[in-house]
Amino acid sequence: MPGPDQPTLLRMLQSAVRVPDHGKRTPFRFLKIEGDTRHELGALLAERSRARDPDASDSVIEKDRLRFSFAPVIVTVIATLGPDEKIPEQERLLTAGCVCFALLQAAQAMGFGAQWLTGWAAYDPHIRSVLGVGADETVAGFIHIGTALLDAPERERPDPVALLSDWTPG
Ligand SMILES: Cc1cc2nc3c(=O)[nH]c(=O)nc-3n(C[C@H](O)[C@H](O)[C@H](O)COP(=O)(O)O)c2cc1C
Repeated sequence: MPGPDQPTLLRMLQSAVRVPDHGKRTPFRFLKIEGDTRHELGALLAERSRARDPDASDSVIEKDRLRFSFAPVIVTVIATLGPDEKIPEQERLLTAGCVCFALLQAAQAMGFGAQWLTGWAAYDPHIRSVLGVGADETVAGFIHIGTALLDAPERERPDPVALLSDWTPG
């Protein structure tokens, strides 16, 4: 189940960086997890999972060990935040979120399966440090990219009619 090779991945990223970006801050960067490093990260996750919860069952630990093993390529989209005199952090985080979605769509448009996942690993201080995520940074998403083995199950979608209202003054 191949993932994108480097030129293909770069084409996806070329697409993913074309997002709205107030103040042109480029508040994001990419960290690729591929090949054997996925399993090395999985081993660290399993170890950390055990440390977080010594009573965790073996199946929970195994689930954590395998989190990064399913897709051949995982692109970590890291939001680069921190103080900024003009652009609120929220807006920069939204830009990083747009990058995640744009990358998902680019991967899917190029025929790959892709999924935006986070899980505890995105927020755990030890795993953040292992990934080199800085104090002013946050993991916006792990974008797992590979070959879809089956169609993703459809789910009920929100009804835009129920979500839409009209503002009226006063
Ligand atoms: C920021 C973010 C983090 C997510 N993390 C997870 C996750 O860790 N595990 C998970 O099963 N789904 C997660 N999802 C949801 C999936 O990306 C996806 O929406 C879900 O599997 C349903 O797929 P669909 O939206 O194509 O129907 C996350 C979504 C977002 C926006």
